[in-house]
Amino acid sequence: MVQAKSWVLDKHFDGFPKNSDFKLKVEKLPELKNGDVIERNKFLGVIRAFSRLQMKEGDVMIGTQVAKVIQSKNSAFPVGSHVVTSCGWTTHSISDGKELTPVMADWPKDVPLSLALGAIGMPGLTALHGLEDVLGLKEGETLLVNAAAGAVGSVVGQIAKIKGCKVVGSAGSEAKVAFLKELGFDEAFNYKTATSLEEALRKASPDGYHCFFDNVGGHFSYAAFQQMKHFGRVAVCGSISVYNDATPQTGPFPHLAIIGKELKVEGLLHDRWKDRHPQSQRRLMGWYREGKLQCREHVTKGFENMPEAFMGMLKGDNTGKAIIAV
Ligand SMILES: NC(=O)c1ccc[n+]([C@@H]2O[C@H](COP(=O)([O-])OP(=O)(O)OC[C@H]3O[C@@H](n4cnc5c(N)ncnc54)[C@H](OP(=O)(O)O)[C@@H]3O)[C@@H](O)[C@H]2O)c1
Repeated sequence: MVQAKSWVLDKHFDGFPKNSDFKLKVEKLPELKNGDVIERNKFLGVIRAFSRLQMKEGDVMIGTQVAKVIQSKNSAFPVGSHVVTSCGWTTHSISDGKELTPVMADWPKDVPLSLALGAIGMPGLTALHGLEDVLGLKEGETLLVNAAAGAVGSVVGQIAKIKGCKVVGSAGSEAKVAFLKELGFDEAFNYKTATSLEEALRKASPDGYHCFFDNVGGHFSYAAFQQMKHFGRVAVCGSISVYNDATPQTGPFPHLAIIGKELKVEGLLHDRWKDRHPQSQRRLMGWYREGKLQCREHVTKGFENMPEAFMGMLKGDNTGKAIIAV
């Protein structure tokens, strides 16, 4: 009998999440039926889901994992194989295989499997499809990305460089700004110490921006919209500056800039391009192997530390993808 430990959402977040919002639950998994597998999670990712819409109190916290199959009555997932799964913050889980994605069959032995949660996984795919299918980024254009040192942002900037663009990134510390320069960003600034966002954005690209990959929302977006070129394009990927608001933030609102500059603004969810993910993942792996895509991870050890790792990610502790190794 396999015992699973899981972190559940005990209380909906009210403002910034706190330790008492999470509860550790232990349960025994049932015996395997034909077609089932039991997987043990090795690497877990933390994301700030729209918890009030997607979860109820008592649910296992949402997240994606790389897991190893440890028992199997499903020939598609033999014991010892690795899968990407979305069973949440749990050590072990049972599955009929429908929600499991095998890790790329020819995943190179010398490439860490945890990258299947980061630059060569969902965040990398979000970056790639956001740039190509939403923004239609073209060589020679200028791109702005915020939360640029994070899982999605760091890949966005690097792919834009591969495509021959000028890239401007913002992040929340001097160390992160230095990291962005290491990645080849043309300009980077610390949005926390900039006296004026408008000035920082204008200084980084006096001619404005063709494209803006927005991970942050709120006041940053407002400032960025003012600096877009006429007919600029905006991909709205995330809005991390407002996720933890107990009271919704109010304006200023960007509509006048959207109208006056005739901007194209489009939201995105990574699943839209699910059928193309295998070939896109190969492209990301190719760039990684060629040394064109650097992958930084912020690794926390120990399942018991998941809430800390999650809250740390929201505070900006991570450079690159925040991963929990168990
Ligand atoms: N649409 C989709 O399908 C999709 C898929 C994946 C992710 N997302 C979204 O994309 C965004 C980035 O995700 P990620 O996984 O790459 O996260 P991440 O960047 O690895 O981590 C979050 C980062 O956000 C920054 N941040 C936190 N509060 C902020 C604030 N008030 N203002 C500005 N920056 C703030 C922090 O970095 P600093 O130190 O720079 O502040 C933190 O490290 C998130 O909004 C996420 O929800 C969307």
